[in-house]
Amino acid sequence: MKNMKNLKDRQNTPLGRIYFFSLACIVFVYLTIFFIIYPPRPFNTTLMEDITQEALPTKHDKDRRCDLFRGRWIRDLNRSIYTNETCPTIPVSKNCGRHGRSDTEYLQWRWKPDECELPRFQPENFLRLVRGKKMAFIGDSVARNQMESLLCLLSQAETPIDTYKDSEDRDRTWHFPTHNFTLMVIWTKFLVPATERLTNGTSSGDYDLQIDSPDPAWASKLPSPIDYIVLSDGHWFFRKLYLHNNNNNTIIGCVFCSEPDTNHLGPAHAIGLTLRTALHFLKKYNEHTTTIVRTFSPSHFENGVWNTGGTCNRTWPLREGDVDLKGYELEVRGAQVEELERVRVGGGRIGVVDVTKMMLVRADGHPGVHWDNQYMKGYSDCVHWCLPGPIDAWNELLLAVIAGLS
Ligand SMILES: *[C@@H]1O[C@H](CO)[C@@H](O)[C@H](O)[C@H]1NC(C)=O
Ligand SMILES: *[C@@H]1O[C@H](CO)[C@@H](O)[C@H](O)[C@H]1NC(C)=O
Ligand SMILES: *[C@@H]1O[C@H](CO)[C@@H](O)[C@H](O)[C@H]1NC(C)=O
Ligand SMILES: *[C@@H]1O[C@H](CO)[C@@H](O)[C@H](O)[C@H]1NC(C)=O
Ligand SMILES: *[C@@H]1O[C@H](CO)[C@@H](O)[C@H](O)[C@H]1NC(C)=O
Ligand SMILES: *[C@@H]1O[C@H](CO)[C@@H](O)[C@H](O)[C@H]1NC(C)=O
Repeated sequence: MKNMKNLKDRQNTPLGRIYFFSLACIVFVYLTIFFIIYPPRPFNTTLMEDITQEALPTKHDKDRRCDLFRGRWIRDLNRSIYTNETCPTIPVSKNCGRHGRSDTEYLQWRWKPDECELPRFQPENFLRLVRGKKMAFIGDSVARNQMESLLCLLSQAETPIDTYKDSEDRDRTWHFPTHNFTLMVIWTKFLVPATERLTNGTSSGDYDLQIDSPDPAWASKLPSPIDYIVLSDGHWFFRKLYLHNNNNNTIIGCVFCSEPDTNHLGPAHAIGLTLRTALHFLKKYNEHTTTIVRTFSPSHFENGVWNTGGTCNRTWPLREGDVDLKGYELEVRGAQVEELERVRVGGGRIGVVDVTKMMLVRADGHPGVHWDNQYMKGYSDCVHWCLPGPIDAWNELLLAVIAGLS
């Protein structure tokens, strides 16, 4: 309960408000640009067809060649292993049930890879695998969202102890004493150092990035040795950015800027460059570290953007045919996977939790208006994911991936 109170306090502080406001701003810029580049197609409300109630016959579960990320969501009436009542660490802002979300169909799906079965998350299996180890999630608030999902899942087997929180509750560490497992989340917007530009003393929302070194906000806080890193980012890049190479003091290019004599790059390109820097750093950091990249997580505003009444109130996934497979989400994912493959060529333990495509259909999984939005009444959160919810599948995939790499 103490944890819940702390989390609640976070939402109520001015920093909490700034945090949500900043998030909203990003989403706004992001969507504005998105709608300029890709005019929206009308979504229709046809329901997902071809729903199977029963599990399908499986090939061998441990078949390494099964592509875990190619598959579909199938109906499963017995899905969540936790509820908002049984997860002691559930964050207030993702507890959609507490904020009036009463539909439950969105909880009744499981991810079914085409060629194998993804086992239901078994917290004991995860904890056995990570006994005596340390794992860090590094990234933005969606990275935090995944770590919170993992905490809820694992808490069904062992109650975690809250061992560290920074003053803004952006970095947090938990410990599972019986398994001596340490789970941490470290906040960074861009993975690399970034300074916000001021115009006449006021925040502009534009950033200068040093793209050739990792952000000390995470790189200097990593324990050594560290066994597992889950890296992700992306949502902060849809704004005006200037990319600098500190080494020779040159500007490599900019994102969404208007300067004519600068190299214009897309956000996906910038995301790729910063990921490359982080991966190179991690490769040298500890020989035995396993690094997992979680690919870009799509958001789902409809009928507007965050501040023009955009919502995400669906209760059922989209049909695959209603999803834009040429959108910016898969472009970002492509840039991330390319960097991962590039660094994997040189060896090392590196894996991917490739959620972009599978989550494109899960427009039903966001809090929408069902979050702790007392300071932003009427605004929908269509970026983060409800707990419990479809984001829990990311941790089933994470378990399968680290088991495969162990
Ligand atoms: C649902 O899951 C629980 C364990 O989480 C299991 O005991 C129960 O048998 C399952 N029910 C069905 C119908 O599969
Ligand atoms: C859990 O969600 C239900 C709605 O599904 C809600 O009535 C209840 O208050 C929530 N409980 C907690 C502890 O947040
Ligand atoms: C717990 O794990 C850490 C490494 O994460 C190790 O240094 C420490 O010795 C372990 N403690 C016990 C009591 O096994
Ligand atoms: C900054 O302030 C100066 C003087 O008050 C004004 O002329 C200028 O337009 C301002 N610039 C911006 C970007 O607001
Ligand atoms: C600066 O360094 C980058 C690579 O680190 C290189 O691509 C670029 O050409 C260099 N620029 C200059 C002006 O030397
Ligand atoms: C969902 O949102 C749309 C606007 O985007 C609104 O027209 C509709 O009534 C909402 N549906 C429900 C069930 O609230």
